[in-house]
Amino acid sequence: MKVLVVGSGGREHSLCWAIAASPLCEKLYCAPGNAGIAADAECIDIGAEDIDGLIGFVQQNAIEFVVVGPEAPLILGLVDRLDEIGVKSFGPSAAAAILEGSKGFTKDFCAKYDIPTAAYRRFTDPEAAKQWTREQGAPIVVKADGLAAGKGVTVAAELDDALAAIDAAMVDGQFGDAGAELVVEAFLEGEEASFFAICDGETALPLMSAQDHKAVFDGDKGPNTGGMGAYAPAPVITEAMAETVMQKIILPTVEGMKAEGRPYKGVLYAGLMITDKGPELIEYNVRFGDPECQVLMTLLMSDILIALVAAADGVLDSFDLRWRDEAALSVVMASNGYPGGYEKGTEIVGVELAASEDTVIFHAGTARGANDELLATGGRVLNVTGFGPSVKAAQEAAYAAVDRIDWPGGFCRRDIGWRAVAREES
Ligand code: AMP
Ligand code: GLY
Repeated sequence: MKVLVVGSGGREHSLCWAIAASPLCEKLYCAPGNAGIAADAECIDIGAEDIDGLIGFVQQNAIEFVVVGPEAPLILGLVDRLDEIGVKSFGPSAAAAILEGSKGFTKDFCAKYDIPTAAYRRFTDPEAAKQWTREQGAPIVVKADGLAAGKGVTVAAELDDALAAIDAAMVDGQFGDAGAELVVEAFLEGEEASFFAICDGETALPLMSAQDHKAVFDGDKGPNTGGMGAYAPAPVITEAMAETVMQKIILPTVEGMKAEGRPYKGVLYAGLMITDKGPELIEYNVRFGDPECQVLMTLLMSDILIALVAAADGVLDSFDLRWRDEAALSVVMASNGYPGGYEKGTEIVGVELAASEDTVIFHAGTARGANDELLATGGRVLNVTGFGPSVKAAQEAAYAAVDRIDWPGGFCRRDIGWRAVAREES
């Protein structure tokens, strides 16, 4: 089978790495890919949001299966366009990708199908939003309805911060159209986890749970990023909790989306808060998490390509997946200054020699320079992923490899997995 993966991050590198190992994969392309992906796939210089360019490439090269990594091409309707030309793909239609594209849609959907989530209201008028927010009091959470590059959520400890967030989005237009409508919701207390399931429109197959670290600095301090590290499995998602999440959240979502005429195919990524009352949905994403995908792919023993094709074909109900009985942990190495401004083009030395038998290094923002040297071209640059019998062992493996990489232009958190390691040690 000729396969195209769309995207250029560490998530897509881990998908390419896993797909390339499948006997079903005869030829693998990635658009646009990166310097690390080039070891597993032929990289094609077409951007992930260039839908016409991607469709043209698929037709000219007789691609048989497309795996879409990021949300933007999904929301732009890449899967719908592939359907029109009769090419199979893994990912939701634009109509189903609304679960990530509109927080307001998802909240109303949860209310309709009785899926546990924080109490909320939707607003298009700033004065009405502020009045309701004052009535509720802090802590409270203000969210832009649309995609805001991960910056659209304000968890306000003080009422004034919530009111300022409403003004910034609705009056000052901080997020453009994405913030013209807001969701204001109750603050949930508990431990967060990411839960992944692949769906075929009718049913869902749980993958594994993971936890990520969004804050840029050790101790979960500083501004939020796309994710500075992740590990799996998430200890808070016990087997019983996973079953509850499937019954109360994932399966009602698949059934509800079908009933709404928006059948959901692809990976459903539920951001969860595990509260005293049980799991609550914080948000849905319609793609794999990054860097959560990297730890999942490291632990998956089954053939990922067969599973993704089964989801596209609607035959997941007879499917099962095997996982290593181990933990994996990924440390994100980022350019100095990220998530703010950073210098591009700094050189990284030693990556090829840094990996060992218990680590895999996925590339995110990398490219080759004129002399084939490895250059950092993005904010998040490398995902150094270790695995072992415990989170602690996986953490040690990952940091040992980090320490073998010579990159003065970059940094990483030194405490990825701290919560799970503390739990293992107690
Ligand atoms: P989101 O983009 O919706 O995942 O929100 C980003 C982050 O904000 C989440 O990962 C949570 O840490 C936090 N968050 C969002 N909604 C809530 C909520 N209702 N209660 C507490 N924290 C929240
Ligand atoms: N790691 C969080 C995300 O992919 O959204």
